Amino acid sequence: MSQPKTAAAPKKKAILTDTVTNKTMDLPIIDGSIGPSVIDVRKLYADTGYFTYDPGFTSTGSCESKITYIDGDEGLLLHRGYPIEELAEHSNFMEVAYLLLNGDLPTLEEMKKFEKDITYHTMVHEQLSTFFRGFRRDAHPMAVMCGVVGALSAFYHDSLDINDPHQRMIASFRLIAKMPTIAAMAFKYSMGQPFIYPKNKLSYAENFLYMTFAVPAEDYQNNPVLAKAMDRLFILHADHEQNASTSTVRLAGSSGANPFACIAAGIASLWGPAHGGANEAVLAMLGQIGDKKNIPEFIKRAKDKNDSFRLMGFGHRVYKNFDPRAQVMRKSCHEVLGELGVKHEPLLDLAMELERIALEDKYFVERKLYPNVDFYSGIILRAMGFPTSMFTVLFAIARTVGWIAQWKEMIEDPSQKIGRPRQLYTGHTRRSYKPVQQRG
Ligand code: SDX
Repeated sequence: MSQPKTAAAPKKKAILTDTVTNKTMDLPIIDGSIGPSVIDVRKLYADTGYFTYDPGFTSTGSCESKITYIDGDEGLLLHRGYPIEELAEHSNFMEVAYLLLNGDLPTLEEMKKFEKDITYHTMVHEQLSTFFRGFRRDAHPMAVMCGVVGALSAFYHDSLDINDPHQRMIASFRLIAKMPTIAAMAFKYSMGQPFIYPKNKLSYAENFLYMTFAVPAEDYQNNPVLAKAMDRLFILHADHEQNASTSTVRLAGSSGANPFACIAAGIASLWGPAHGGANEAVLAMLGQIGDKKNIPEFIKRAKDKNDSFRLMGFGHRVYKNFDPRAQVMRKSCHEVLGELGVKHEPLLDLAMELERIALEDKYFVERKLYPNVDFYSGIILRAMGFPTSMFTVLFAIARTVGWIAQWKEMIEDPSQKIGRPRQLYTGHTRRSYKPVQQRG
């Protein structure tokens, strides 16, 4: 029996009235599956001659995506619908990587094949190791990562054609697999120690710890608790919707640039202290504060508009509640320190006291500034033996699968076009050239 015809629901729209021209324009409202609906302004300029204006994109949806959903008020983070807390508790980084890339959790067979696909790309072209020789030993490892990852496009010519799905897949596997190898090489190079080749029998996190901390002169024993903590840290940093570095990767990719170049652009954007560089900045800040008695002075500075000091690891463009990743990270902190037999970590005590005081302070409460993913991660990484300069490199290792998943989604979107924002121009109107004799 055919269903009774119901009147089509009226299309939702916003009506724009221009009081200058007295013209009105209907702007369609598009609903997502959850979260804020959007006002579709794609025809605005053609129909009205107006641009929208939103520096920092505080109210702008740049794309449609099915990968990650964040509810900043609820402190909710879903990857393909799965809450980050559940993935951190029950999953592992390779499985989360598969989920982000393919949209669903893998079957056992799919997981085995994916792990093999990634594992057999962990080595880098041997000539790449001489590439490091061009850097000073004291180069920041993020500078090395920008250079070496971008240079991968000079080594892997058979996976540069972004219009070939097979080449896109191989480039994706190469990037996910080689990031830990290159990161470990950057660390070894800074230490003056020999590079350690990957071992395919190890898990993704175990392999990274092995390549970073093993030395040829000694047998290396992986610590399963630290490997689990590393794996969980990778899960927590894997993807996060349209953040600055992901938007950089999407914009670079929208011009047709090859994936190695796009990921190098993402690494560069992540490096900033307002973004992924914050984990390194948190440790520097805690070192600057030094003692609990100095906390009030630094809280005062963080609130002073004339002081550029900000509480690093606090605040977020989207989260106006606890960053769910920070919660998991704080729990992991205690586990790792416990496993390492660190009875008393002054930095952790200082961080927890700083969090307590800040969250009681009106300034932070009113602005809904809570600890973010970067607030506790550095304490774990320092306890695991990483220098602070490597913290953002570890963030980049994990985020590579998120960048790739978002880049893949954009490339496969039939409506995709080159990203090319416009502007509000407030410079000089047209004027004629003056010879130098007539200037001044
Ligand atoms: C990451 O986008 C992502 O998803 C990023 C990320 C990811 O996974 O990809 O989550 C990873 O980058 C986390 C953020 C790491 N950065 C930091 O911890 C650096 C410190 N935080 C701030 O720089 C800031 O909170 C940002 C950059 C994170 C967010 O800045 P916004 O959204 O532009 O907020 P804002 O600057 O407009 O701040 C609103 C108010 C301002 O005060 P008023 O002008 O209203 O008086 O809050 C104040 C700011 O001055 N404020 C802070 C503060 N953060 C915001 N004041 C003191 N200390 C801070 N940390």
